[in-house]
Amino acid sequence: MSKIQQIAPEVMSVPKVRKRKGARERLVMLTAYDFPSARFAEAAGIDILLVGDSLGMVVQGLNDTLRVTLDQTIYHTSLVSRAAKRALVVADMPFMSYHTGFDDAVRNAGRCIQEGGAQAVKIEGGLKRSDLIRHLVENEIPVMAHIGLTPQSVHALGGFKVQGKTLDTAQALVEDALSVENAGAFALVLECVPAEVAREITQRITIPTIGIGAGPHCDGQVLVFHDVLGLYDGHRPRFVRQYGEFGQAMTQALARYRNDVASGAFPSSEESFHLKEDTAKRFEDGDPKHADSQQG
Ligand code: KIV
Repeated sequence: MSKIQQIAPEVMSVPKVRKRKGARERLVMLTAYDFPSARFAEAAGIDILLVGDSLGMVVQGLNDTLRVTLDQTIYHTSLVSRAAKRALVVADMPFMSYHTGFDDAVRNAGRCIQEGGAQAVKIEGGLKRSDLIRHLVENEIPVMAHIGLTPQSVHALGGFKVQGKTLDTAQALVEDALSVENAGAFALVLECVPAEVAREITQRITIPTIGIGAGPHCDGQVLVFHDVLGLYDGHRPRFVRQYGEFGQAMTQALARYRNDVASGAFPSSEESFHLKEDTAKRFEDGDPKHADSQQG
């Protein structure tokens, strides 16, 4: 891999993320799923690398996040944490890895940290998860909470829809946010909620909010790696800002490679290994010594 210029050298940690609450410089979180993507993101100065269960959609080609397993999450987290020298690595606890009891949740989150190398885990849900969040935090596991559109509830929600659009549901989101803060979460992801609701939550809680489709008032933002770089050709939500067209660039480069191989233009003589001139000549003429030894 080519050498990448390092910027923003501060080494991140859970307390440093918390301290960025209300800071002028917003927190920047990006998903990452493997060693090279994490290296590129680190070199760009990203603060937090989330090994999101969006893995299921952008890497595994599935329609939702529900089939991502704990072992897959741990494997991908280990690739990302191997590259992360500075960014905080957060493992997204997959569907059913924290729903079946507090002991299971501690054991599974512990594996994300011990085997995956994550420094924290993310779990979906507000008030209904607050006792679990408290329990994980009491067991030395830092938790990033996630409310609003929680993709693991896609069937219960009836699709990937903006949440908190009515007075009642907006107020319920504020209650969710207060309860996860109270339970000890160190940061809160707000996904697909109206900007006014995200602003109110950001003003009311003392931990940083990190928005995705939640408007400009959050303490930070998160996007999916493949969306930012134009590597995903599925549905592109309106909150995505795409900063590159690397999918197209890749196809163009691969088509050039394909054409060069098909036409014989690759490899050239310079891209090949060669015998020394005299060896080549003897080889082509058929070296008698060699012929003897072959005859035995
Ligand atoms: O899995 C994911 O990528 C996420 C972010 C969108 C917050 O949960």
